[in-house]
Amino acid sequence: MSILNRHGTIERNITLLAVLTLIVVSIGGLVQIAPLFWIENTIEKVNGVRPYTPLELVGRNIYIREGCYNCHSQMIRPFRDEAERFGHYSLAAESMYDHPFQWGSKRTGPDLARVGGRYSDEWHVTHLTDPRAVVPESIMPGYAFLARKELTPGDIAAHLKANRAVGVPYSDEMISKAAADFRTQADPDADPTDLQRRYPKAQARDFDGDPAKLTEMDALIAYLQMLGTLVDFNSYVPEDNRR
Ligand code: HEC
Repeated sequence: MSILNRHGTIERNITLLAVLTLIVVSIGGLVQIAPLFWIENTIEKVNGVRPYTPLELVGRNIYIREGCYNCHSQMIRPFRDEAERFGHYSLAAESMYDHPFQWGSKRTGPDLARVGGRYSDEWHVTHLTDPRAVVPESIMPGYAFLARKELTPGDIAAHLKANRAVGVPYSDEMISKAAADFRTQADPDADPTDLQRRYPKAQARDFDGDPAKLTEMDALIAYLQMLGTLVDFNSYVPEDNRR
């Protein structure tokens, strides 16, 4: 009996086929999954990626609360059309401190992974207040109320701690200074040197055009303006290409 004929036996016996399939799939699964338990990290380290500042984190919470992810992704796929429209494809490291991540799967509006710095703060205020004022054909809802909702640091220190519990490397200093950093970032009269030492590249200014008040608009725009700005792609070389 040739080996091919013996295979016929397996194909005619459903129980034998199921058992042997299970064995083969298990071996394949082990080969793929087991190494993940022994390697330290599956995310390549990338220079520049840092945890969110307290103000950015609050802005991010507003982004989640308002369901912006229902229409916007934050994940540029490694295809030419995407890279030409949105910029360098997203790196895993860029969302390593996201809990929960905002990759999204729906693009009613454009991808926002690199929207930071693309528009002025004034553009964002106008657009978020009334999208049709700047993009007449837009179907995005307006969020004018954000500019009226004032913010206090509230439980921001606890929020940083909660993020630390799931692996975001917030230091004790970052946690104890959380409330101060929160106010400093949106206060045009404050000195941001300390904030920027803790959080390199943090942009500090009045974001919503009303320096007297710290509003949800400030926080959301601070978040939008930092998206995709942490990694310097002029000097970034993927790990596989490093020699
Ligand atoms: C119902 C779907 C929808 C929701 C919800 C939505 N957007 Fe949009 N957004 C759009 C569409 C469509 C556009 C493109 C037209 C325009 O610029 O208004 C857009 C554009 C944008 C842009 C400009 C992007 C670019 O590269 O031009 C930003 C920034 C933005 N949205 C932020 C937000 C934020 C922040 C929220 C949540 C507070 C949000 N959007 C909620 C649909 C949506």
